[in-house]
Amino acid sequence: MTTIAVLGNGRVGGNLAAALTRAGHEVTVADRTPGAAADAARTARIVINATPGNGSLDRLAALRDELRDKILVDVSNATTDGPDGLPADLLHPGSSLAEQLQEALPETHVVKTLNTMLFPVMTAPATLTQTPTVFLSGEDPEAKQTVRALLTDLGWQQEWITDLGGIRTARATEAAILFVPHVIRSSGFTPFAISITR
Ligand SMILES: NC(=O)c1ccc[n+]([C@@H]2O[C@H](COP(=O)([O-])OP(=O)(O)OC[C@H]3O[C@@H](n4cnc5c(N)ncnc54)[C@H](OP(=O)(O)O)[C@@H]3O)[C@@H](O)[C@H]2O)c1
Repeated sequence: MTTIAVLGNGRVGGNLAAALTRAGHEVTVADRTPGAAADAARTARIVINATPGNGSLDRLAALRDELRDKILVDVSNATTDGPDGLPADLLHPGSSLAEQLQEALPETHVVKTLNTMLFPVMTAPATLTQTPTVFLSGEDPEAKQTVRALLTDLGWQQEWITDLGGIRTARATEAAILFVPHVIRSSGFTPFAISITR
């Protein structure tokens, strides 16, 4: 059992919080109420960022004390949106939100994961008809091992988890968001994960 704070109570945050609670973890969900994120982060071992990516850097940098020595699991995508509300472009071209977060929070272990799929897949990967992939990016091997265990709790088999390496590799998975509006326009919101097949 791990104490987990989920920041954001939308599609992603609500779904992850429910699944992690079912898996036996002690989960606190923070909405945008002032002070809620700080309170939740302070008492948790792992903090999951499931808030909009375009404000995440400022929001999380403000929690530097609360996030010290913690694992920050970042599942967000930082984009500018098009007129139809779908992601249109990267907010941090030539970098990534995860790298920016790691730089702003040097005493926190940032791990990027789960950002390359529609939210229902995060907690039900076995429902896809083909073998899905989930990626890990981060500097700290122990933190990635801890997140790997959480992914297992969410239904991810070990061989479906691909550790890409350091936090810089998150710029690859964050760039995969550029597929998403086109996939949604062509195939709707049928759940999918961007995956490596061999
Ligand atoms: N949806 C997906 O399939 C998917 C897949 C992969 C990654 N992601 C990423 O996951 C993140 C969340 O996506 P989502 O689809 O769950 O979005 P969402 O349904 O719009 O939920 C976002 C949540 O964040 C909350 N929020 C906004 N500003 C906040 C603040 N300042 N402090 C605390 N909470 C705040 C919102 O609160 P209010 O309801 O009060 O606005 C809402 O509960 C995004 O970064 C997205 O790119 C989404």
